[in-house]
Amino acid sequence: GKPPNLYSFASTDDLVPPLRSYVLNCQNAALERHGKFSVAVSGGSLPKTLARALLAQGDGSAEDRVQFGKWEVFFADERCVPLDHADSNYKLLKDELLDKIPGDLGRPAVFPVDEAYLDDVQEMADQYEKALVSSFAARDSVKLPLFDLLLLGCGPDGHTCSLFPNHPLLRESDAWVLSISDSPKPPARRITLSLPVVCHGLKIAFVATGAGKRDIMRKIFDTDEGHTLPCGLVNDGGADKVSWFTDNDAVHGVGFP
Ligand code: 6PG
Repeated sequence: GKPPNLYSFASTDDLVPPLRSYVLNCQNAALERHGKFSVAVSGGSLPKTLARALLAQGDGSAEDRVQFGKWEVFFADERCVPLDHADSNYKLLKDELLDKIPGDLGRPAVFPVDEAYLDDVQEMADQYEKALVSSFAARDSVKLPLFDLLLLGCGPDGHTCSLFPNHPLLRESDAWVLSISDSPKPPARRITLSLPVVCHGLKIAFVATGAGKRDIMRKIFDTDEGHTLPCGLVNDGGADKVSWFTDNDAVHGVGFP
């Protein structure tokens, strides 16, 4: 199939409006299909950029309205820490976005991990999978949850969610949610959506900005090794599924191997 869409903008400022349009297109299509919008978001810099896109003043048209009241927000990956901990992806999203949503846009249904399982990261993963089952299983008689949109970051080593290069977790295909106790990026204990769940998503958007992403972007898009990296494996979904929102700093030289 066609390679993923690679959109590049002069700066993060310039990336924000098209990211908003993209997310709202996904939202509107999902609401038409099934009356809700199921998204998964990762941590890192994504929540901040996403908040800028979604909290921006819209143009007032019906299509440009963020209908948060119909959103279901899951975490593509999460750290095994209390929800008010500085390392928590939930706290990050809450501080950057959820707490700032104007009341008239409605409140999303948010699915954080259960703090009761902080001592047992595998149990935390299993319980999070149950939360997914309760949202998706009724709709999908299929084997995997179908997110309308996954919003992901790309690490400097090519990881996405908490799926790291060459890690055995990449081969896990039974569970929807996996635990990891040896994450190379701290903290070590995390949960993550499995690669098949990520790849099954209807739409997948990566946001990668800054010169710090340049080397990994070249590797992912311009080398054979790149196809074996977690981000590269997701890219196999092709142009109908996968889009990258980047700035020029991140993609400088990409396409000229
Ligand atoms: C995490 C994140 C992780 C992140 C990438 C990119 O919990 O660690 O979900 O997967 O998205 O590391 O991070 P940046 O956007 O900060 O570069």
